[in-house]
Amino acid sequence: MDIITYNEKVFSPFLSKEEIDGIVGGLATQINADYSDIEEDVVLVSILDGSFIFMADLVRKLTFQFEVEFVKIRSYNGFESEGEIELILDLHKDIKGKHIIVIEDIVDTGLTIEKFIEQLQALNPNSVKVCSLLSKPDVHNDIINIDYVGKEIPPVFVIGYGLDIDGKGRNHHGIYQLEV
Ligand code: IMP
Repeated sequence: MDIITYNEKVFSPFLSKEEIDGIVGGLATQINADYSDIEEDVVLVSILDGSFIFMADLVRKLTFQFEVEFVKIRSYNGFESEGEIELILDLHKDIKGKHIIVIEDIVDTGLTIEKFIEQLQALNPNSVKVCSLLSKPDVHNDIINIDYVGKEIPPVFVIGYGLDIDGKGRNHHGIYQLEV
């Protein structure tokens, strides 16, 4: 992996394709163990855009039966309406009585996922769990419970494997960290 640049910002290698594959495999093993005997419907809800590559890799490692859904969320972290979210793309299925696994790329402050789970709970699912490839515990201070965490990372900005900077950089196989 080489150093890459976006808008004059320098990013250095953080996680290789092989390391990510191992992390996704580990998450799939845990989820398969927890859901293989569940009789009710299971729905994996991927939060776009960042989780699309992670979701595509994860679902192909899962061995039980499930449906998929995609949502798109606009969050207002750091603005006046801090912590508010708007669903730009909403669920298309009735999730009442179903088991939901929310698939997120990275949990930073945790506000997006916290508010989204509140909205999901109002729809009376059987259960809601969260799976995030990456988590920054020093930022969110465990305000939410992440059931399946791929890797805890320090409070650095990362791109690649679906994660972006100003919409770019999602296509890299590995994950890169912003040099400060
Ligand atoms: P939160 O509400 O602060 O947890 O924000 C979560 C969202 O912010 C993620 O789904 C990402 O879209 C974005 N995000 C947070 N940290 C990073 C990062 O290091 N790189 C790229 N996107 C990030």
